[in-house]
Amino acid sequence: MGTDKESKTEIFGLRENKKDFIIRRCTSDDLDGVIEVNERELPEDYPYFFYKSILDNYPDSFLVACASNNFEKIIGYVMWRIERTPSTNTLKLINKGHLVSIAVSEVYRRKGVATELLKKSMPAIKQKGISEYVLEVRVSNYPAINLYKSLGYEIQTIKKAYYRDGENAYYMVRK
Ligand code: ACO
Ligand code: ZN
Repeated sequence: MGTDKESKTEIFGLRENKKDFIIRRCTSDDLDGVIEVNERELPEDYPYFFYKSILDNYPDSFLVACASNNFEKIIGYVMWRIERTPSTNTLKLINKGHLVSIAVSEVYRRKGVATELLKKSMPAIKQKGISEYVLEVRVSNYPAINLYKSLGYEIQTIKKAYYRDGENAYYMVRK
């Protein structure tokens, strides 16, 4: 974490120019920064080897956002995996791109960072041969639900008590 003064400079920079962040592929050197963002922004935490295995298996769709004045500073990430599960319509087994996790540091939110992370990572996971994009999101997580709706995702079902604290998840799908 930077000092208060440093983050203010960065926010100012982002306000001046909406695209004052860059999106690039994650490397193993970035994983500590990714984990830091995840642990700060989301209650769902994963062990290091989980991130590493997603990076090893799906490197093209594991992207990070960095402040454009500091390419090392991770301000957001997105990671996907592929799962083979029945299609809701036909029950035939199909490959789906499963959004494992996305988060953006609070001070950098509402500047289009998550939208860019998704727009750049979705074609990358699609190249692996998937028929739909899927994800779970807490039913109370309006920012994320709105983000996904803005990208064409629709709520398909509710998964009851999906989270450890008992909260339900929406299962959202984009064909
Ligand atoms: N309230 C309402 N709508 C919102 C909000 C909000 N606070 N934040 C984003 N949106 C919607 C809006 O439609 C927005 O477009 P607009 O700004 O033009 O109105 C659109 O999403 C795109 O917003 P971005 O700026 O691209 O999103 P941002 O970079 O702020 O990141 C995110 C959104 C990732 C949900 C962020 O709030 C975050 O990190 N939250 C905590 C972590 C989290 O909840 N991650 C998702 C968990 S589910 C999963 O990972 C599968
Ligand atoms: Zn999931």
